[in-house]
Amino acid sequence: MARFTLPRDIYHGKGSLEELKNLKGKKAVICIGGGSVKRNGVLQRAEDYLKEAGIETKLIEGIEADPSVDTVMNGAKVMEEFGPDIIIAIGGGSPIDAAKAMWIKYEYPDITFEEMCEVFGLPELRKKARFVAISTTSGTATEVTAFSIITDYEKGIKYPIADFEITPDIAIVDPDLVATLPQKLVAHTGMDALTHAIEAYVSTANCAYSDPLALSAIHTVHNELIKSYNGDQEARAKMHDAQCLAGMAFSNALLGIVHSMAHKTGAAFDDYGAHIIHGAANAMYLPKVIAYNAKDPVAKKRYGVVADYMGLTGANDDEKVQAIIKELRRMNDELNIPHSINKYGKDSYPTEEGFVPEEVFLERLPEIAKNAIADACTGSNPRQPNQEEMEKLLKAVYYDKEIDF
Ligand SMILES: NC(=O)c1ccc[n+]([C@@H]2O[C@H](COP(=O)([O-])OP(=O)(O)OC[C@H]3O[C@@H](n4cnc5c(N)ncnc54)[C@H](O)[C@@H]3O)[C@@H](O)[C@H]2O)c1
Ligand SMILES: [Zn+2]
Repeated sequence: MARFTLPRDIYHGKGSLEELKNLKGKKAVICIGGGSVKRNGVLQRAEDYLKEAGIETKLIEGIEADPSVDTVMNGAKVMEEFGPDIIIAIGGGSPIDAAKAMWIKYEYPDITFEEMCEVFGLPELRKKARFVAISTTSGTATEVTAFSIITDYEKGIKYPIADFEITPDIAIVDPDLVATLPQKLVAHTGMDALTHAIEAYVSTANCAYSDPLALSAIHTVHNELIKSYNGDQEARAKMHDAQCLAGMAFSNALLGIVHSMAHKTGAAFDDYGAHIIHGAANAMYLPKVIAYNAKDPVAKKRYGVVADYMGLTGANDDEKVQAIIKELRRMNDELNIPHSINKYGKDSYPTEEGFVPEEVFLERLPEIAKNAIADACTGSNPRQPNQEEMEKLLKAVYYDKEIDF
């Protein structure tokens, strides 16, 4: 038996934010990030709609990118004092993920962060509040997923919380909210979405329900991302839907080691000013992981289908795998994303000498590899890397080396 879980309602299309008018409840806490939704008027519109619905609101603002355990614990305290029956998170993956974790702590004040991280081990939520997620980036799809990524900055590790309990009740996917998305964010979150779709399609947990969603997302992201990056608003709207379809796929089919590696390298070099942005990490690692996974015959066949949906040709699946790798590298070039950590510079742009010094990388490599193997996303990857292989993979993404194992 398998389970396929999605939000009860997904409102999508231009103007769908307005659906907040029809929300039923008394008190809503609204969680936002750094302030882009304040500046562009989205927060004001949301608050006005909620007022129309007769719902009292309280704001939790300033949720940082890659939210910390402290942010989660502090936000939960605010929720406990206010007592909302609705939690509304508006933003990119960071505020929505933080709000999901706050929700768990609000429902179960005694739960520890370690307990939250037990994979598919959460107690039943919705005793106190329902959850509405409104995405303002086109990538993480956290508005429809069973995941929340929280960073423990003391350990320098990102931890995924995974449970269908935190799949939101309502998702709002309104393309108006991504119209002014900065170009760099379009690139990063778009490559994140493509990684979600490809990893979900080759995941060992793939199924007949997730496959069509993943393939459709692969096709659309491949066709529209560069256009959206270059300012085409129609393409931008298509990307917003495609990333959500990818989310529906991977929330159920899970992911693979591109994400394990991204989670465990993302905050590992923060002390060198080299926070490796999630989408950029995925974009750099995906071609290497495809080369590694394609040694598995079932995965190779599936990559052949991925190539078909990307409109790439090849005489056989080996050639198609090579065609995908070449195409992904071309996309990274178009999107101004480097191919490897040693070329990862300021603002994630390619540079001759990246932020992470070689000796620091090599010194931390064994620990990062160990953590990546233990990541919740590793279990559904087509191949299970041992310590030696994971170290080799990480070296390949540091030096941009070919995969021959
Ligand atoms: N829960 C999941 O299923 C899932 C999946 C993938 C990634 N993630 C996590 O999500 C986080 C990344 O999320 P993200 O990529 O959406 O970015 P983000 O939420 O970290 O936001 C990045 C920046 O973009 C700004 N921003 C957001 N929307 C904007 C808009 N419309 N216009 C202008 N600026 C805007 C924010 O203020 C912030 O400065 C990472 O922590 C990652 O690990 C979660
Ligand atoms: Zn991701």
